[in-house]
Amino acid sequence: MLRKNINMETKVLEDNQLEHFNTDLMLPCYWEVFLSVLERNIDSNKSFSVLDVGGGIGLFADKLISMYPNAEVTILDNSEYLLSQNKQHARKHFIHGSAMDLELLLADKSYDIISFNWVLHHLVSGSRATSMDNISMVLKEAARHLKDNGYISIIENLYNGIIIDSYPTKLIYNLTSISFKPVSSLIRKVGFNTAGVGVNFMSEKIISKLIIGAGLSINSSDALDCWYYNLFVRLVLMTKPMKILNIWCQRV
Ligand SMILES: C[S@@+](CC[C@H](N)C(=O)[O-])C[C@H]1O[C@@H](n2cnc3c(N)ncnc32)[C@H](O)[C@@H]1O
Repeated sequence: MLRKNINMETKVLEDNQLEHFNTDLMLPCYWEVFLSVLERNIDSNKSFSVLDVGGGIGLFADKLISMYPNAEVTILDNSEYLLSQNKQHARKHFIHGSAMDLELLLADKSYDIISFNWVLHHLVSGSRATSMDNISMVLKEAARHLKDNGYISIIENLYNGIIIDSYPTKLIYNLTSISFKPVSSLIRKVGFNTAGVGVNFMSEKIISKLIIGAGLSINSSDALDCWYYNLFVRLVLMTKPMKILNIWCQRV
């Protein structure tokens, strides 16, 4: 399904695909990395604000709110279904809309941290090139909504090619973009629940280039190995071990 946004069009997932996100992706080891960087960068004794773009059912927000009495967290998500699963809290706020429309949705609001946890790869439109442009545009816009000394934190699955760096991510994009039902059902079975719509994963080189191109500087970059595909899928993708990356960046 194509949805018209103010700036461009992106594909949106069906509700049965969104159901896969009714889960906690932040394993304790990812939290450990995220919190150690947060503690380094933010004075949590003072009040601070977080915008969690693609925050879904809000488990990330809930944990921040419970750990930090000075944190106010806003979740922005384009799925009404996932937003409706959230627990309510006085320091938890909601914006229903697309990351592609940050300019319109945020107006003059600014935040100490803007987090993108496993969402940038969903900003998919007609081709891989335009999907990359979407990420770049969204990062640029997010940067405009950072407070002075504010940070963008990105968590993404990374696929670095064994021989050609971009090979696994191009292949995943092309395969998951096939909308022909028998093929997309097969790709879903392999583990790509976004099959039929497309998913734009990146390698470490590609995401770093996009971040720098969006006028941001990288403050820290922590990657943890994470394997869950079987050997056959790994060989077809010709990918090094998948990594979960947490990058923190700032306006230059
Ligand atoms: C893989 S889930 C990650 C959810 C959550 N951030 C987490 O870490 O568990 C992707 C999330 O991005 C949201 N999403 C996808 N495209 C979006 C868009 N264009 N604008 C805002 N949210 C989007 C989905 O609704 C979903 O909540």
